[in-house]
Amino acid sequence: MIADDLKPNILRFKQVESTNWTAREAAAKGHGEGTFIIAESQTSGKGSNGKIWASPSGGLYLSALLYPKSPKKFTDLSIVAGVAVVQAIREILPKNAEVSLKWPNDVLLNGKKVAGILCEVLGEEYFKLCVIGIGVNVNLGENQLSEFLENPFSATSFKLESGGQDFRLQTLIDTVCTKLLDLYRFYHKENINHIRYLWQSNCKMIGKRIELREMGWRKGDTSESVEGEMIGIDESGGIIVADDRGKKRTYLTGHLTCCWQ
Ligand code: BTN
Repeated sequence: MIADDLKPNILRFKQVESTNWTAREAAAKGHGEGTFIIAESQTSGKGSNGKIWASPSGGLYLSALLYPKSPKKFTDLSIVAGVAVVQAIREILPKNAEVSLKWPNDVLLNGKKVAGILCEVLGEEYFKLCVIGIGVNVNLGENQLSEFLENPFSATSFKLESGGQDFRLQTLIDTVCTKLLDLYRFYHKENINHIRYLWQSNCKMIGKRIELREMGWRKGDTSESVEGEMIGIDESGGIIVADDRGKKRTYLTGHLTCCWQ
């Protein structure tokens, strides 16, 4: 059972290669559950699928160390993190900002990607340590964002969506840390279905027609694609899609490249 009074232990850095990597080093030095690595900037920020995550100062770059006590599934924590980040961002931004989740785990602001999550499992034993890396585009200008070429859900930042306003990073840090630990505790007391329900209620694409591609949205991508209605996510975080005849299939990998209104 995880401690009810588990508090964030925040380690701050001016610049690191990647907070996920620094988190791994912190774990090797004996730092425990609830340790958060925060850097002002990263020189080799890691995105999902081997991409680079642009990390100039003005963004939030945070990695959390979690050591689940039972062999819980890695994918569970990714779902937990997605819900924590969407809730935290919604708390910071004005009420009229449209904040939602996009499968597998991007946070969209007014329909554009504003945050990404990269979960990594480390350790020799099964599921010994999980690093949850969270990047949020906060006070970044257009030319500082990661390039999401031809991505219909192209990148944005808090600043770009708020007419150039700057936001206090520390408020977002505190909110993300608190939400993540609160939901992590809740997850241990309940089960993944409660968190899955929260994830789904924060996803605006459910019930809509979507396109899922094997490879992504790069020019010339001729990879397989499927179209259908997004039904939800299953217990392992896979996306459930119904085809035109209503037959449901779950996909564990792929890129959601289009969503029709
Ligand atoms: C994605 O591509 O959507 C995932 C992006 C994750 C970026 C964050 S920034 C903090 C942490 N450190 C990294 O190197 N990556 C993650």
